Amino acid sequence: MTMADSVSVLVAKLGSRSKPDPSWTSKATGCTRERAERAVLEVAAYSASVMELCGNIDRTGRSYYAQFPAPIDLYALVRLVRPRTIVESGVASGVSSAFMLMGAKTNSRGTLHSIDLPVLRTGRPGDESWAVPAGMSSGWATPSSLRVGWDLREGRSEELLVPLLEELGTVDFFCHDSPVDREHFEFEMQAVEPHLGPGSLVVADNTYRRAFGEAARRVGAEAVYRKGSSLGAFRVPADGA
Ligand SMILES: C[S@@+](CC[C@H](N)C(=O)[O-])C[C@H]1O[C@@H](n2cnc3c(N)ncnc32)[C@H](O)[C@@H]1O
Repeated sequence: MTMADSVSVLVAKLGSRSKPDPSWTSKATGCTRERAERAVLEVAAYSASVMELCGNIDRTGRSYYAQFPAPIDLYALVRLVRPRTIVESGVASGVSSAFMLMGAKTNSRGTLHSIDLPVLRTGRPGDESWAVPAGMSSGWATPSSLRVGWDLREGRSEELLVPLLEELGTVDFFCHDSPVDREHFEFEMQAVEPHLGPGSLVVADNTYRRAFGEAARRVGAEAVYRKGSSLGAFRVPADGA
């Protein structure tokens, strides 16, 4: 099987939204399309881990926990940016975390610091789609082979994000996927901004476009959206804002 075939198998498993968009990842990072395409193909090396991740999810009787729509592209972004510090807000079952951990593993550098407020599944109507199954905690589906060195903190981002950012200083890669509301989104963008450096990348799902566009412009960048969706990214110019 070629690497491209392996990636197609992963897309079939992860769902059609995960079909890679190298045009987006190349525009978001400033890398060539060829480089972005190569980064996508490399994820084939993690086929067993992705199948384990999906198997862990399937065993709960559901296949959807509001996961990040473009996990393969997220892997490619981490490969293309080669961040030392990665901060994530919104873990749920751990799909996005797993792909960023894979990217950091291939890079042989970078630590993922994740924040998540787990919502427990009650089994009653009204449960959030991302609610954690009984007996599990945030990131429950992420294979143990990827968890080495993962700094996973449970709690509200409103309480944990600023202290984490102050601890880290500079953030090379920030992934927002903790949908609450506009105020929460703006809080995260404003909190992370002073910690971005030249070349840092911000990727966010369920973006409030105006707030995201303004955050990008404030650091001299331009927000780029994936296939007309609300998944956006921007990268601070390498020579600073
Ligand atoms: C859309 S899910 C994240 C999906 C995940 N990125 C993935 O790919 O599997 C959003 C997560 O954010 C968490 N969350 C909600 N409010 C939060 C808050 N105030 N602080 C931190 N996490 C929060 C939810 O409980 C949920 O686990």
